[in-house]
Amino acid sequence: LGLAEAWEKFVSPKSQNKKRTKAYLRKRLAEKQMLKTVIKYWGKRDETLILPTNSSLSVTLSQDQLHSKTTIRASPDFEKTRLWLNGVDVDIEKNKRLQNCLREVRRLRKEYEEKLRKDKGPDNVLTLSEYNLHICSENNFPTAAGLASSASGFACLTYTLSQLYELPISTTELSKIARQGSGSACRSLFGGFVAWEMGSRDDGSDSQAVQIAPRDHWPELEALICIVSDTKKGVSSTEGMQNTVNTSTLLRHRIEHVVPVRMRSMIDAIRERDFQKFAEITMQDSNQFHAVCLDTFPPIFYLNDVSRAIIRVITEYNSSNSEKKLKAAYTFDAGPNAVIYTTSENIPEIINLIAKYFPGNDDVKNYFSDPFQLFVGKTIGC
Ligand code: ADP
Ligand code: DP6
Ligand code: CO
Repeated sequence: LGLAEAWEKFVSPKSQNKKRTKAYLRKRLAEKQMLKTVIKYWGKRDETLILPTNSSLSVTLSQDQLHSKTTIRASPDFEKTRLWLNGVDVDIEKNKRLQNCLREVRRLRKEYEEKLRKDKGPDNVLTLSEYNLHICSENNFPTAAGLASSASGFACLTYTLSQLYELPISTTELSKIARQGSGSACRSLFGGFVAWEMGSRDDGSDSQAVQIAPRDHWPELEALICIVSDTKKGVSSTEGMQNTVNTSTLLRHRIEHVVPVRMRSMIDAIRERDFQKFAEITMQDSNQFHAVCLDTFPPIFYLNDVSRAIIRVITEYNSSNSEKKLKAAYTFDAGPNAVIYTTSENIPEIINLIAKYFPGNDDVKNYFSDPFQLFVGKTIGC
C-alpha cells in the first residue's frame, strides 16, 4: 500500500468508524406470516392515524410458505435511513406511513433509553434511537397484488424494529404502531384468529388488535391460497377505500348495521369451531365487500372471470352434498386472488376440483406430494 492508501485504510477517521461499526452495529431479523381476512376492513375515519370505519377479523396462516422477512441494521455510521423492498432501494421520504411507524417506535426507544440510563448509569446505554437504519424487507409472494403484502410487511417491519430496540411492549400496544403503516398490519402481529377492534377515540389509543384464539384452537381449519394473478392491482387498497368512503351509500349500511352483528357471530363461530357459521359469514362478507366496491363511484372491480369461476365451483361443491352442508368457503381481498377455507377432510376433493376446472397448474401436483403443505398456485386460468 502507498502511504496515502495506508492512511486511508488504517488511520483516517473513516477507518476508525469502520472499526467502531463492528461494536455498535446492531442487527435483527424476523418473519411474519400472511393473513387472510374473513370480516373485511374497508374504510378509514382518520387517514393519518389509520382508524377504520368498522372492526375486522382475520386468520394468520401458520404455515411458513408465505411470509415477509425483514432485516434491520442500526449503526451510527449510516448516513441516512434506507429501505430496500424486495431488493429495490425505495425513497422513504415520500413514504409517510413508514415515517410514522419509525417515528413512533423511535419515540418509545427514546423513553426506554431514559429509563435505562437512570437504572444502569448514563454510559451503559446505546443511543440506538439516534442511529440511522438499513431496512431490508422481502415478501416471498406477490407484492401489492391483493394478497395482503402490506399487512405482513408492516407487521414484520414494526416487530423487527421493536426487537432491535428491545422494547418492553405488549403485542397489542405494538399493533397500534403497525396500524399506522397499513391498517391490516395490526392483525398480522399475532398468530391464529385476530380481531382489529375499531375503537372510538380520536387519538387511536383504543384501535388495536387482539387475539381471539391461537392457531391450534382449530387445527382442522385449512386455507388454500389460489393465486389468480400476481400483477400489481390497478387501485391500491388505500385509494380504493377512500373513494368508497366518499361515494358509497351501501358502505354506511354495512358499517352501521351489518359488521357489528357479523363480528359477534364470527367470534362465536371461531370459539365454537362451527364451520357452517364460519363459512356462511366469510362468503357473505366477501360478497358484501365486493358489492361495496361496485357501489363506489366510479366502481372498483377487484374480481375477474377466474375469481367468479372459483365462486361458482365452491357454490356448486357446497350444494352437491346430500346434507347441503357448507364444506368450503371462498373469500377475496382487494384483488382477484381467492382463499378457500375448508376442513382437512375435504382438502383432497377440493384440490381435485381445482385441478379439474383450472388445469395446467403444477402446484396442485406438489400439494399431493405433501398434503400438509399449503396450496399455492402461480396463476390459474379458466
Ligand atoms: P396488498 O394487497 O399487497 O396489501 P396494498 O396496496 O395494500 O397491497 O399495499 C402494497 C404496499 O405495501 C406496497 O406498495 C408497499 O408500499 C407496502 N409493502 C408491501 N410489502 C412490504 C414490506 N415487506 N415492507 C414494507 N412495505 C411493504
Ligand atoms: C380488502 O390494510 O391494505 O384486504 O390501511 O390503506 O394500507 P391500508 O389498507 P390495507 O387494506 C386491506 C383491505 C382488505 C381487507 C383486509 O385485509 O381487512
Ligand atoms: Co394491503
